[in-house]
Amino acid sequence: MTQNFYVLGIETSCDETAAAVVDVAERRLLSNVVYSQIKEHADYGGVVPELASRAHQQRLPGLVQQAMAQAQLSFADLNGVAATSGPGLLGGLLVGYNFAKSVAMAAEKPLYATNHLEGHALTAQLSDGVAFPYLLLLVSGGHCQFIHVKGLGDYTTLGGTLDDAVGECFDKVAKMMGLPYPGGPNVEKCAKKGNSRAFVLPVPLRHDAVNFSFSGLKTAMRQLIISQEQPLTAQVMADLSASFQQTVSEILVLKSKNALQQSGASRFVLAGGVAANSLLRGCLEELCVGENVAFFAPPIGLCTDNAVMIAYAGGLHLQRGDTTPLDKPAQPRWSLDTLAGVSAGDIR
Ligand code: KG4
Ligand code: ZN
Repeated sequence: MTQNFYVLGIETSCDETAAAVVDVAERRLLSNVVYSQIKEHADYGGVVPELASRAHQQRLPGLVQQAMAQAQLSFADLNGVAATSGPGLLGGLLVGYNFAKSVAMAAEKPLYATNHLEGHALTAQLSDGVAFPYLLLLVSGGHCQFIHVKGLGDYTTLGGTLDDAVGECFDKVAKMMGLPYPGGPNVEKCAKKGNSRAFVLPVPLRHDAVNFSFSGLKTAMRQLIISQEQPLTAQVMADLSASFQQTVSEILVLKSKNALQQSGASRFVLAGGVAANSLLRGCLEELCVGENVAFFAPPIGLCTDNAVMIAYAGGLHLQRGDTTPLDKPAQPRWSLDTLAGVSAGDIR
């Protein structure tokens, strides 16, 4: 029988305040609570860092209590505490990471400062039991990159965006059309009634194998939007959303095909907030079927930001003996490649 390995995870890097408890040894989710700060940022059409920090501070203690109660565990039962310490908005990171430090100190448990991207990168292992190695396409509000995931802490970036992240592009396009925040899910909803061939949009960096550029696509959308009769009708908004979503999916499919060939991977994992988009999931799954590659994408609730992924990724490190000293600061900028080669007791 495997021994349990209980880890409390805390996530506060952007606009979701989240806490979760995972049994890492049994890959079992014991609790998962998320507070999405939609109300706080709605009036501004995007995340306001100062308001995000305040909301994290207000919500986090209650969410941690809730996560522990649902898991039916006390802090003394934990094997460790994991919190996102980067990349992300510094104010939010400080709230969650310092809270985690306090819990770890008071309960005399080891702490692991977890990379948010590593959380996204490993979620499919928890949800679908995907084995190493695999090609990861990480698509979120802050990132759009291909990562060759070879083992725990062993990551190589193959390519990525030269400017905007794909989620950011969804969010900006939504804002330009007057759709509410958060943009991505609202563009997807609006696209349902639209014609995806109504507008022709450019595919930037078409001839670059595995790098992306989304700023040109954003500008093309802006020009299209202002060239339409104002205010936009519901049908035009739906057509614009559907055409945009279709083009983004085509770009991601084109580059994924190249990245699969370049990496020789036999497994493909789609992760990050934009992986919640069903058109994109469907198109990439179809590509993988054609390429004879196994396709995995975590359930939608585990694609957008959550603390389960932090508990799991941080927990895997804790399980192999990696711990973070309490004086280690948060890292608002922190690429996944820098984790490569990290071994037990060598986290700084
Ligand atoms: O991973 P995530 O929750 O936070 C970051 O780490 O950035 O990703 C958030 C991003 C946002 O840009 C949001 O608009 C986008 O994911 N997103 C979507 C969908 N759901 C969330 N984009 C397209 N379609 C969706 N259904
Ligand atoms: Zn994220």
